[in-house]
Amino acid sequence: YDKMKFKFTKENKARIASILTWYPEEERRGALLPLLDIAQRQHGWLPITAVVAVAELLKIDPMKAYETAKYYTMFYMKPRGKFVVSVCTSTPCYLRGGDELLKACAKMLRLQPGETSKDMQFTLKDDYCLGACVNAPVASVNDDLYEDLTEVSFESILSDLK
Ligand code: FES
Repeated sequence: YDKMKFKFTKENKARIASILTWYPEEERRGALLPLLDIAQRQHGWLPITAVVAVAELLKIDPMKAYETAKYYTMFYMKPRGKFVVSVCTSTPCYLRGGDELLKACAKMLRLQPGETSKDMQFTLKDDYCLGACVNAPVASVNDDLYEDLTEVSFESILSDLK
């Protein structure tokens, strides 16, 4: 995947230019996460060439940018499915069945956590806290959060996606 070309679109260049005005020159590195996010939204995942493009814009070491991107679970360093299904298994969700929910999803999608289906429809993730612990168990599909889930309710949400 590493040879994949990456160029920001005109719209995203404008968006980035406006974000960069929020940062003084010497603190531009603070824009790393928003810019990586823009790159990922444009491309669907983050090829190394996109990380390098972001690093160049911010005048930072590409290796540092790459390490940061790899650290965050929200960034995908290889192609992902059209629907990224993340099931939270952090303690509050785990205690309320997050683990069982993940197993049910794995069975339904025929994927192990971390895998993407061959037709590129689904990626399954075993995720950390999604920030809605009071309504555990919680899962998300792309940017949509689903709370108070049961295996049955989440399976019906997933089957509606197809
Ligand atoms: Fe699952 Fe916080 S622990 S949302």
